[in-house]
Amino acid sequence: MCTSSRCSILLLLTLSLTTTVSEAIEARSLPEPTFASNLTTAIPFDSLPTTYPRSLEPQNPIIENQIRDTLAHYPLAIDGKNFAALDLVFTQDVVANYSEPLGVLTGLPSVISSLQSSLSPVRTQHAFSTQLIEILEGESTARSLTYYTASHFGQGDYYGQVLYAYGQYQDDWIRTCCPEEWRIKARTLVFMGPYIGNLSVFT
Ligand SMILES: *[C@@H]1O[C@H](CO)[C@@H](O)[C@H](O)[C@H]1NC(C)=O
Ligand SMILES: *[C@@H]1O[C@H](CO)[C@@H](O)[C@H](O)[C@H]1NC(C)=O
Ligand SMILES: *[C@@H]1O[C@H](CO)[C@@H](O)[C@H](O)[C@H]1NC(C)=O
Repeated sequence: MCTSSRCSILLLLTLSLTTTVSEAIEARSLPEPTFASNLTTAIPFDSLPTTYPRSLEPQNPIIENQIRDTLAHYPLAIDGKNFAALDLVFTQDVVANYSEPLGVLTGLPSVISSLQSSLSPVRTQHAFSTQLIEILEGESTARSLTYYTASHFGQGDYYGQVLYAYGQYQDDWIRTCCPEEWRIKARTLVFMGPYIGNLSVFT
């Protein structure tokens, strides 16, 4: 994040290190990533209706579709148990707060190993529903809110048993380079209700 004192130090450095004014302007115009939410802290449910604007003017539909499509690869990776494919969705330095029991996972390898081992006793289906995507100023960052229902199907002795989880993902996105793609840099998973079903499917 760029506090005003840090910005002026950066600006001074930029000005003193570059030889021409045009180079200085170019360096200054690089968009500073701004995130609407604090990385691992959830936006409270009662703030969500007013936190997300209603897009009365169309956003960039290409970017919106890139983000929606990228996020759709999350259930494909999880439910297909191709956890390595999560690198299509998250940045390498992602910080993901999965709430209890997983807690805050820092870095993609940690996300991959935690999800892989915690989900190893079950097969899953992650279904998305309500979703909002907001592309932020400069079109280099975005955030999204996505409701999900996760069904965890027991195996072996627990075949036919299921545990349902209801929640939402609050995701902060960044446009990567190069190639230009979108990745989740920060995620907070917030449960919206208790687990329903048979908890023993995880044993
Ligand atoms: C982020 O946290 C800082 C202090 O930790 C707080 O001042 C700021 O309001 C928070 N921003 C949001 C969007 O919650
Ligand atoms: C993670 O998210 C949960 C649920 O919103 C919250 O209670 C917890 O404080 C968050 N943890 C951190 C470290 O921000
Ligand atoms: C969970 O599934 C097991 C195996 O089918 C069954 O014996 C047990 O009663 C179930 N528990 C609940 C709470 O439904």
